[in-house]
Amino acid sequence: MSTQELITIAQSMVAEGKGLLAMDESTPTCNQRFEKAGIPQTKETRRSYRELIVTTPGLGEFISGVILYDETIRQSKKDGTPLVKVITDAGIIPGIKVDTGAKELAGHPGEKITEGLDGLRERLAEYSQMGARFAKWRAVITIADGLPSRGCIEANAQALARYAALCQEAGLVPIVEPEVLMDGAHTLERCNEVTAEVLRTVFDQLYTQRVALEGMILKPNMVLPGLTCPKQESVDEVADATVRCVLRAVPAAVPGIAFLSGGQSGELASARLNAMNVRFKTRMPWALTFSFSRAIQQPALEIWKGRQANAAAAQQALVHRARCNSAARLGRYRTEMENNVDSQAS
Ligand code: 13P
Repeated sequence: MSTQELITIAQSMVAEGKGLLAMDESTPTCNQRFEKAGIPQTKETRRSYRELIVTTPGLGEFISGVILYDETIRQSKKDGTPLVKVITDAGIIPGIKVDTGAKELAGHPGEKITEGLDGLRERLAEYSQMGARFAKWRAVITIADGLPSRGCIEANAQALARYAALCQEAGLVPIVEPEVLMDGAHTLERCNEVTAEVLRTVFDQLYTQRVALEGMILKPNMVLPGLTCPKQESVDEVADATVRCVLRAVPAAVPGIAFLSGGQSGELASARLNAMNVRFKTRMPWALTFSFSRAIQQPALEIWKGRQANAAAAQQALVHRARCNSAARLGRYRTEMENNVDSQAS
């Protein structure tokens, strides 16, 4: 695969009016969310939920690509059609989470390193053969007293860059996701400092590992105050801090930045993304869009509750959030759009 082909895929992932839907929760994470919603935690309920998502009518109008998990990419609809075929037929690009999770980083209490490099070349070849066109790797950075450490930032940045280089070798577009977590009482300013340092280190490593920036997508956190920080900035203040941070740290060659939602409510995530696109439209060299999991899926999951009778209402809630985020990617989201959800669980 040539760099030009990678660029074409990356550009379609951040196409006008579209963004990514992360549905790649690992089995433990998916089970935790099911448990909270009162849904049995089995391979079949996970399959059935993912079938519900990818068969949502009209999803392809707003969603360019979906990120799958290893279990899901191998699954099929109840009628036997592989989910990858359902996705592709809907005009959506299939992608795959390839890291194997964040583990304790030795010598760094309270910090994590994302694993999964061993055997990655072979796994990427298999996923590509199964139809995946892009991949995702998530690093997590914690803000706390004296954290993050330089050791944690550098180890994660290097792993992200080695993963990205292997993806491009295999013809897959890497989504590079360094997530600075929202947990804690830190200020927006502290999140800004940490996010800037993390992004600079990541791009330094991407350069060192010879990753073609034109053929990748960055998936960062927004610059936010910690969840328990007493001062919570306005939507416009968050948008300004976030875009200023990425303007300084992300090279213009990158085709798109697709934010994670990180635990923000769906409405707030849409409003903040919208404000970025409204306020900086003419000043941004890259597309600014979404790659949300919770901020798209949460209402649908709560409505579904594992019951077939609720499937259509859950799909309406899902496509509603996809539509709101598509509008936000264009700078056309309005809070009044939120009144038009006509989905009710039975
Ligand atoms: P959230 O949008 O729920 O943060 O999930 C995005 C994601 O893909 C995390 O890796």
